[in-house]
Amino acid sequence: MNITQLNQKKMDVKNYYGRVLKSNEDLKTSACCTTDRLPDEIKSIIKNIEPEILDKFYGCGSPIPKLLKNCTVLDLGCGTGRDVYVVSKLVGENGMSIGVDMTDEQLAVAHKYKDVQMKRFEYSKCNVDFRKGYIEDLKEAGIKDNSIDVVISNCVINLSPDKAQVFKEIFRVLKPGGELYFSDIFTASRVSKKFHDDALAYGECLGGALYIEDFRRILAGFGCLDYRVIANKKIEIDDPALAQKAGPMEFYSMTVRAFKLNDLEDRCEDYGQVAYYQGTIDGCPNAFILDDHHTFVTDKPILVCGNTASMLMNTRYRKHFKITGDKSRHFGLFPCGPAPSETNSTGKGGCC
Ligand SMILES: C[S@@+](CC[C@H](N)C(=O)[O-])C[C@H]1O[C@@H](n2cnc3c(N)ncnc32)[C@H](O)[C@@H]1O
Repeated sequence: MNITQLNQKKMDVKNYYGRVLKSNEDLKTSACCTTDRLPDEIKSIIKNIEPEILDKFYGCGSPIPKLLKNCTVLDLGCGTGRDVYVVSKLVGENGMSIGVDMTDEQLAVAHKYKDVQMKRFEYSKCNVDFRKGYIEDLKEAGIKDNSIDVVISNCVINLSPDKAQVFKEIFRVLKPGGELYFSDIFTASRVSKKFHDDALAYGECLGGALYIEDFRRILAGFGCLDYRVIANKKIEIDDPALAQKAGPMEFYSMTVRAFKLNDLEDRCEDYGQVAYYQGTIDGCPNAFILDDHHTFVTDKPILVCGNTASMLMNTRYRKHFKITGDKSRHFGLFPCGPAPSETNSTGKGGCC
C-alpha cells in the first residue's frame, strides 16, 4: 500500500468507529466483542465502569495480564477506555494507565468520565492519560523509548494498515523485559485482496486480520523469536453476506503474550532448567498460567525450556519464581510440541 492508501484506510476506520457505529449493538459480526470468560476480579471492576464506556466497547478478548500493581501500562487503540479504566484500578494509584486512539468520538467518551472513575476508585490523583495518536507513531503521541512495562491492545492491530510499524513501535516503547499482551483477530491463511479491500469486512476487524505465520515473522523481525497463546477461539461470522465473502477463510480471536527479551531462541531448547512458582502473584495463590500449555502449580517443579525460563526470570514475574539451572549445559531440543517455525494454522504459539 502506498501512503495515500494507508491514510485512506485509517480514515475509513476512523469514520467507522467515530461515526458509523454508535454502540456495540451496531456491529455486524461478533468478531469484535467475542465474549471471553472474564476473570471475577475484572468483572467486578467493570461493574464500576460507566455504561456509556461499556456500550462502545469493541474489544475481542481480555488482554489484561496479572501482576500490574505499580506498572505503567499502554493500551493501543483504547477506544472509549474500558480496558484503560480496568487497568487503572489494577495498577493502583501509583501506577499509570495510558490509552492512545486516533478517533475523537471514542476519546471524547473516554475523557468524559475520567473524574467520575477516579472518584469511584477512590484515587486522590489521576492515573489515567488518554492521548490522541496513531499506534504506528507512538513517538508523536509522546511515548518514550523503554518507558512502558506492559503494552495491551484489544482488537485494534488488525485495523492497522501497517502492522509491522505497530510492532516496531511496541518493541521501542517497552522496557527491557516488558510484556506485550493483546487480543486480536488472526487467520489461518492470508485474507484475499478482495476481502481485505471490503470496507465493511475491514471495519469489522476481519479484512485486516493477521495471518498467524506473518505475525510470527513480524515479531521475529524485531528479535522476538517466541510468543505464547493464552486463548484461542474460532469466530463464526453470523452476517450471511460477510460469511459468503469470507468463503473458507477461518478467523480466530486470540490472546497472545510476547516479551522484549534478547535471549530467546527460535526453537525451545533444553538446558535442564526447572521452574517453581511460589504462589505469590495476587489472585493466583494456587497456580499461574503463562500460556495454553504452561500452568505452574504452586511449589510444583516443572522442567522448562530456555525461552520459558527467560520469560519467568528476566521479566516482572521474576520475584514469583525460583528457577534452577542456567544455560551452561545444553541437552538438545526441548522434547515437546511445535516451535514457532513450525507454527500451524490453528495458531499455536511457539514453545513446547
Ligand atoms: C475495535 S475498536 C476497539 C477499541 C477498544 N480497544 C475496545 O476494546 O473497546 C478499534 C479502536 O482502535 C482505534 N484505531 C484503529 N486503528 C488505529 C490506529 N491506526 N491508530 C490509533 N487508533 C486506532 C479506533 O479508533 C477504535 O477506537
